[in-house]
Amino acid sequence: MSQSKVLPAALADRIERLIAAMTPEEKAGQLSQFFVFERGSEPVDEEIAAGRAGAILFVRDPSEITRLQRIAVEESRLGIPLIFALDVIHGLRTIFPVPIAMAASWDPAAVEAAQAVAAAEARATGLHWTFAPMVDVARDPRWGRMIEGAGEDPYLGGIMAAAQVRGFQGDDLSSADRMVAGPKHLAGYGAALGGRDYDEADLSESELRNVYLPPFKAAIDAGAANIMCAYMTLNGVPATGNHWLITEILKEEWGFSGFTVSDANSAHDLAKHNFARDGADAAVRALNAGLDMEMALEAHDSVFNTLPQALAAGLIEPARLDDAVRRVLTVKAQLGLFDAPYAEPDAAVRVLDEPAHRDAARRAAERSFVLLRNEGQVLPLDPRALRKVAVIGPLADSARDTIGPWVFDHDNAETVTVLAGIRDHLAGTAEVEHVTGVSIEQRLNPSFFDDIPGFDIAPLVSVDDDAGIAAAVAAAKDSDVALLVLGEAQNMIGEAASRSSLDLPGRQQELLEAVIATGTPTVLLMMAARPLDLKGASPAAVLQIWYPGTQGGTAVANAVFGKIVPGGKLPFTWVRSIGQVPLHYARMVTHKPKEREMRYWNEDGTPLFPFGFGLSYTTFAYSDLVIGADPIGLVDDLAIAVTVTNTGSVAGDEVVQLYIHQRHGSAARPVRELKGFERVTLAPGESRVVRFVLSAERRRYWSSAARGWVADATTFDVFVGGDSVASLAGTFTVAPKD
Ligand code: BGC
Repeated sequence: MSQSKVLPAALADRIERLIAAMTPEEKAGQLSQFFVFERGSEPVDEEIAAGRAGAILFVRDPSEITRLQRIAVEESRLGIPLIFALDVIHGLRTIFPVPIAMAASWDPAAVEAAQAVAAAEARATGLHWTFAPMVDVARDPRWGRMIEGAGEDPYLGGIMAAAQVRGFQGDDLSSADRMVAGPKHLAGYGAALGGRDYDEADLSESELRNVYLPPFKAAIDAGAANIMCAYMTLNGVPATGNHWLITEILKEEWGFSGFTVSDANSAHDLAKHNFARDGADAAVRALNAGLDMEMALEAHDSVFNTLPQALAAGLIEPARLDDAVRRVLTVKAQLGLFDAPYAEPDAAVRVLDEPAHRDAARRAAERSFVLLRNEGQVLPLDPRALRKVAVIGPLADSARDTIGPWVFDHDNAETVTVLAGIRDHLAGTAEVEHVTGVSIEQRLNPSFFDDIPGFDIAPLVSVDDDAGIAAAVAAAKDSDVALLVLGEAQNMIGEAASRSSLDLPGRQQELLEAVIATGTPTVLLMMAARPLDLKGASPAAVLQIWYPGTQGGTAVANAVFGKIVPGGKLPFTWVRSIGQVPLHYARMVTHKPKEREMRYWNEDGTPLFPFGFGLSYTTFAYSDLVIGADPIGLVDDLAIAVTVTNTGSVAGDEVVQLYIHQRHGSAARPVRELKGFERVTLAPGESRVVRFVLSAERRRYWSSAARGWVADATTFDVFVGGDSVASLAGTFTVAPKD
């Protein structure tokens, strides 16, 4: 992949000549990136012309990107092109479902294809680098940024991380449709105390290496050319100044050859963390820890511009400074920027409107839905049997909420809301009545995001909740089915959007219960990315639709009316209530394993829905678990096969999941660990043998007792099925000698 590709000798020489010709100020400039929000700002132009900028983030107007690039190439002394970066998290113009939804597809090919579309749109716009994928494992649903990742599991997280890197980067970063991926945030950010964004993380080395680091390693093995360091302190040392993490693990142990970047102002903030003495010390500590580029909120706020003085004072080694510059210039060369610094004029116009991208977004949404409940097979609905449908809820017709957070270049006007999708599907066959019902409360504390251009939030729906609930009840009574679109507004989740409650915000719970009480079959379409607590309310069906993107409404209608069959699975454990948090499936066994269900005085200890869970409009059966050999040697890979059969009457997808459990060893291991999965489509009655290879590598773990990586000679249980409580089981033994 790109980062490990050797540069052609001529380019490598050019980089060395440039480094030799650069002043310390120009070197510091290449290591500095800052935000530019406004078009045509003189101070920014001057910084670029003076060679004091290596990268710019947030500009997304193609003509402004070209204008700034011209200043770098034509006016700066050495003419080194800039890299332009943006958070292209789940699409640029064509918005795909949010990352946690894409993970729920358990379909790495779909994930790769989605990010390839995002890269094509971004690169055509003149952008070269995205701050994605976010590969932080998240085990606390209070943490809003769980929406940006792949959930609680390191193995699923690693597969999704690698797929996204492949999608963004392809095989050749100089292609007109690929861009640099920047997996983030190294490392442990998802373990923020209390789920409060930016709070400290304290993780044992075993937890870090077995759970939080594997998705980063997978992203790097897939070729990621950049890594972003996290904001918070990890075990007391800020991640951005953490030599052990950035240099010893990332660069030395894993051989990462790309460049690292701070999070926004996180080098500068080493002083705020009571770590660095002041800004100049922060720059020294960050560079010496292995940070290559600073992302500064504003050019004048940068601390890396003090590096020349640090060099003169002997506080940083010339070789470390040059290494950082070399890493940045190498990625610029891999992007082809020295030869072709400008995007093709008009490429954006052509690429952003590509209809195939909208189709890809619809298909991705269809693959992401998770069917959580379907009493009496209320879904799919038969449009021919319907006279009238009530579509209820504050999120039913909100274009802005439908596409979720972390979007900038979207077009609300072209976004298909759930209401629009349902209306379109039923046009000419059934009447659709829309009732907003209730308002959604907005945030208690203002966020700095409210002031950032592009972070627009949906206009507040303001309705009289009492009258709205009455209107919803009347509409439901008069309809054959009520479709409720409830959940969280998109700005209630994401960065700086943690919640201390998993309740439906506002009076949505009351609305839900009132509609269920009418007796009209009620389908809840949940627009959310957290395991929300329905407090025992039981609509006939619950379909988790996440924030489904530009084509979301069309995809939802296709699922509701059976044009497609939901086949996604939960990438996290769905807790019963917030008091259970954290609760993940891969926990350690206690001394009273059978009593775990009884450990709360007031509530069951099991989750509402287990990790990996999801229903279908059909059913599946598992049989014939075949374990290829027993015993096996320590370094042997093991073939495992299982037969899965569609036992229902429609075609559908099943995600076949493989879990293992190690019975004894140098350290205790979790009760179950995901080690393989495959999403298959089966016709009614069709059987398929699904084959896994459980490699020796996947049986290794980092042991606190051994203080290193270990493969034990032991006995393993194997479980195969459609979720993490799968019951089809077998065992195998690893013999001490090969
Ligand atoms: C976030 C990063 C993001 C950066 C630039 C930060 O606040 O933590 O994930 O890439 O802003 O927008």
